[in-house]
Amino acid sequence: MNQPRDILITSALPYANGPIHIGHLVEYIQTDIWARFQKMRGHHCWYVCADDAHGTPIMLRARQEGITPETLIARVANEHQADFAAFRVGFDNYHSTHSPENQHFANLIYERNRDSGHIVKRTITQAYDPVENMFLPDRFIKGECPKCGAADQYGDNCEACGASYSPADLKNPRSAVSGAVPEQRESDHYFFRLNDFEDMLRTWTRSGSLQKEVANKLDEWFSAGLQEWDISRDAPYFGFEIPDHPGKFFYVWLDAPIGYLASFKNLCERTEGLDFDRFWSKDATAELYHFIGKDIIYFHALFFPAMLQGANFRTPSAIFAHGFLTVDGQKMSKSRGTFIKARTYLDHLNPEYLRYYFAAKLGSGVDDIDLNLEDFTARVNADLVGKVVNIASRCAGFIHKGFSGQLADSLAEPALFAAFVQAGESIASAYEQREFSRAVREIMALADRANQYIDEKAPWVIAKQPGREAELQAVCSMGINLFRVLIGYLRPILPGTAADSEAFLHIAPLTWDAIAAPLLDHAIAPFKPLMTRVDPAQIAAMLDASKEDLSATAEPTDSNPHLTRDPIAAPVDYDTFAKTDLRVALIREARLVAGADKLLQLTLDLGGETRNVFAGIRSAYDPKDLEGRLTVMVANLAPRKMRFGVSEGMVLAAGPGGKDLFILSPDSGAEPGMKVK
Ligand code: MSP
Ligand code: ZN
Repeated sequence: MNQPRDILITSALPYANGPIHIGHLVEYIQTDIWARFQKMRGHHCWYVCADDAHGTPIMLRARQEGITPETLIARVANEHQADFAAFRVGFDNYHSTHSPENQHFANLIYERNRDSGHIVKRTITQAYDPVENMFLPDRFIKGECPKCGAADQYGDNCEACGASYSPADLKNPRSAVSGAVPEQRESDHYFFRLNDFEDMLRTWTRSGSLQKEVANKLDEWFSAGLQEWDISRDAPYFGFEIPDHPGKFFYVWLDAPIGYLASFKNLCERTEGLDFDRFWSKDATAELYHFIGKDIIYFHALFFPAMLQGANFRTPSAIFAHGFLTVDGQKMSKSRGTFIKARTYLDHLNPEYLRYYFAAKLGSGVDDIDLNLEDFTARVNADLVGKVVNIASRCAGFIHKGFSGQLADSLAEPALFAAFVQAGESIASAYEQREFSRAVREIMALADRANQYIDEKAPWVIAKQPGREAELQAVCSMGINLFRVLIGYLRPILPGTAADSEAFLHIAPLTWDAIAAPLLDHAIAPFKPLMTRVDPAQIAAMLDASKEDLSATAEPTDSNPHLTRDPIAAPVDYDTFAKTDLRVALIREARLVAGADKLLQLTLDLGGETRNVFAGIRSAYDPKDLEGRLTVMVANLAPRKMRFGVSEGMVLAAGPGGKDLFILSPDSGAEPGMKVK
């Protein structure tokens, strides 16, 4: 075994205002596989992360929910960690950027850069919301596109025509927070002189710390010229106040990557013998890697190393960027049900499937990766259930029945076993280079060979022939040993299945080195199915539940939905409108729906005819308060099959969601079944 390496690994810090979704999981699963691999190789490897808890969206989100930002981020931290644990993302520490350690390092890094002259003050003019008394980030200003006139566009670019512009160019600008017309006001801001670090960054970029595609992107940025970076924000802001400038706060992206240091520091404080400086000081000997998505390269490959350098810390050994997840070839979409939250996935499917599928798709580059749901089902069923687990299930029964679980004391085919061990080198180098798809391909080729071996030897035939007991034990023990090697190789990808297999094999957690020694004259436990097949119905139910999440909740948005108004939709002619049959309906019964925390099941009376309708209004209404009330429903909406039954129509409600949902009621005198015109 080579010298153990000291390795610190991070994933990007998820924002504390929304749930983990399967797009995020590409990153956390990719990083976790690499960290588990390094640990299996015997290295001293630490994997840390944290919630990214600061910034305007989090402040406004908390305000909208009527809670403090601290309460919001504490709740989300719990949700995030529960999701990660369920996907077996094995962080050694999960912290928060809203922590004393982070405040300490943010101040320190700021002060050192300031004292070396890398921070300058400039007065800037910025949009200001006179009702909310706050400066407005670009994405909190909406108005008409100066190019094409499309309504309701964000402050920096138009979704309709793609134009980019400055928020000052928007026509009829409005604050997305209060709806007020923004004013232009002056304020002092503090800027980090990124251009001071151009030489250092050019050298660092070419030192092998970046993927080729990323280094090329950086060359473009260098040619465009490095800009000073605005690192301060005015109150009100949820973040850290700048030590020497009361009322000014660090911009969330200043203290976010510093969260990597903070989380590791927090780990060091709880871990005997773990020395912070060995990982972060200028002369650190440890390796430091950041896994990130391609959307946040600028922050990690320019600002962060420059700030570290300016504050006399080491720079990262490498940054590993990955692409974005698409589902069935398209961007994740709430209306198609492909915006799948980690929790919704877990309600329907085994996390090991997704870990395997992502691994089978991931290379070391920044290409987007596609989750094709049909391919997902086929691949998991064919590879994991059909090939890998099958080897154990084909052999274990015979070992149990005939030999009380005892494996043979020598290998039937030492050469085949040696070939499996030999293949480990190439598989390890694929893992090391983050070529997980290659690792998976090579492992599955071995699984094919193991199955071939069993097919050729046909233990089920041997078992029927008296006098061939030793041969039966030898063949099945060989099969179990090949299975053990495969599970060892798959362990970084399938930690849950590996743990179950280790229990079945009665062995200690596998290390990479341990794989080479076969299990001989050893008793194994009775076999329990290690994994079941994916049923397409589970996928359908998951998509359905993801759609339901949308209809039933106001998704977190950047703006405050209390105060913004949806734009008026494009005009329709009367005939189109008249196709919608709206009726007065009496709510006869309202019930909770087991397993759907956003729905109520309503029995609606249309004056003789009743309808079953699932309505996403549970967050706003107690079922018993609804019974006996009149409301308005769409009576000719095509029935929709949901996980809980068929919904035969829709009730009308106004409002952004959550507690603020208001079903419509007709004036007194209206009768069930009356047409609404
Ligand atoms: N808070 C910042 C990161 C700060 S790091 C100092 C952030 N948070 S995020 O929640 O939006 O994203 C967290 C990570 O998940 C990022 O690396 C991001 O690229 C990644 N992904 C988010 N959506 C994704 C997909 N749809 N597909 C793949 N990765 C995605 O950015
Ligand atoms: Zn436009």
